[in-house]
Amino acid sequence: MDGPATIVIFGASGDLTARKLIPALFENARKGRLPAGTRIVGVSRTPMTDDEFRRRLFESSCRSLGDACRPDEWNAFARGIHYIPGNVSTPDDGARLHRQLRELEDDRSSGRLYYLALAPALYPAAIASLGAAGLANQDRGWGRVVFEKPFGHDLASARELNRTVLQVFDESQVFRIDHYLGKETVQNLLVLRFANTIFEPVWNRNFIEHVQITVAETVKVGSRGAYYDTAGVLRDMFQNHLLQVLTLVTMEPPGRYEANALRDEKVKVLEAVRLPQREALDEFSVLGQYEGYRDEPGVAADSRTPTFAAVRLYVDTWRWKGVPFYLRSGKGLAGKTTEVIIQFLCPPHMIFDVPEGQTIQCNRLVITIQPDEGIHLSFQTKVPDHGMALRESMLYFHYRSSYPETPIPEAYQRLLLDAIRGDASLFIRKDEIELAWRIMDPIIGGWAARDTEPVPAYAVGSWGPPEADRFMEHDGRRWVNGASLHHDA
Ligand code: BG6
Repeated sequence: MDGPATIVIFGASGDLTARKLIPALFENARKGRLPAGTRIVGVSRTPMTDDEFRRRLFESSCRSLGDACRPDEWNAFARGIHYIPGNVSTPDDGARLHRQLRELEDDRSSGRLYYLALAPALYPAAIASLGAAGLANQDRGWGRVVFEKPFGHDLASARELNRTVLQVFDESQVFRIDHYLGKETVQNLLVLRFANTIFEPVWNRNFIEHVQITVAETVKVGSRGAYYDTAGVLRDMFQNHLLQVLTLVTMEPPGRYEANALRDEKVKVLEAVRLPQREALDEFSVLGQYEGYRDEPGVAADSRTPTFAAVRLYVDTWRWKGVPFYLRSGKGLAGKTTEVIIQFLCPPHMIFDVPEGQTIQCNRLVITIQPDEGIHLSFQTKVPDHGMALRESMLYFHYRSSYPETPIPEAYQRLLLDAIRGDASLFIRKDEIELAWRIMDPIIGGWAARDTEPVPAYAVGSWGPPEADRFMEHDGRRWVNGASLHHDA
């Protein structure tokens, strides 16, 4: 393993550090995966001592684990945690920080990871100050910078931010996070497709009738109303998570599992997505807002921000021409589930009698990203002792039962480790992020311009507005709602 790394977290007094980053780093340390002697340095404006910072993190990282957290493990880990009060956006503090980091480090240090857990509005100033303080230089070890989402709020701002960042850092130093890529089951999409031979031959327009990608949440906006109201579901979930899942479902096999080879293929898919036409918004998208959203703290009383959206996209390639991809996400829905539904074509000619009024369910592959991570394949079987009656049956794979000894880790564990190791496979490249905005911009802008029209309402605990069902019915299809919620292995 390499020499010790220094992980510098900007915005360290915030929620993300306590809830996600430190617990993930602690787990990595417990598993012996962090280079020995790795330091974590929290930076934020709140005045605090090292000990106060450690105590704060103890609550979220160790105590929350209950008996699973051994105090000796935590204490050993916490000794490597430091805190430096300061404002990374000011050049003076940047220079001071550089000196203090050098004092903490020794000759064995391999490099530094700068994690921007800051409000995105602070990114440009933070980057400029890191650059001015010489913190982007790699003369004394590697230096990498991690950006949380959102990276920009439209194509123009994402391009501008990329320009600012790349004036200071080289693209090989930049790690843009989409935490969905850190999910094991999202990575398993690649394994399913490219470590097996039976799926790829049918993974195309000749066998697949349509695809649904749903990220449904039961939670509402909670305390994030002020942020969410400026973002909405299209920026918050589609531009990143849903489009990323789409790329993994549709990309061509790369020559090898390597960051740029993978990302080249994902970029080709994003380039091939047919750009939605602003004038025909209703034909390919539906929005919704849950009832009571406007009463949430931080939300404007006349807000038109969508908390639900469904969008039909096409990937114009030989493999996918004409296959509709339905992407859907919302808050306040009936179930928490992230699923990819691959709906295969029906048999071209049915030789068995299907009773009047009944239809048969054609083959369907359900890939559950969460919460009950697994894969279901449905197919028809003969009902025994009932003539030639048919019924849908399932083949199941569940992570929980197949790997009972290995709980699925939090996405940040893998992502932080990869960033420390310099593996950018699960991070978003400059061109990727811009292409994703290029797809979403016309939809977001188009709907925003129709500001006299009401956004369809939906009841909390439903599967979205009735308009979303009609949208599918119009296409002669139906949403599959929580397929994996209804099946047990
Ligand atoms: C975040 C969004 O990126 O993803 C949140 O900002 C959303 O609004 C969250 O709740 C969903 O992540 P997960 O891992 O719970 O599916």
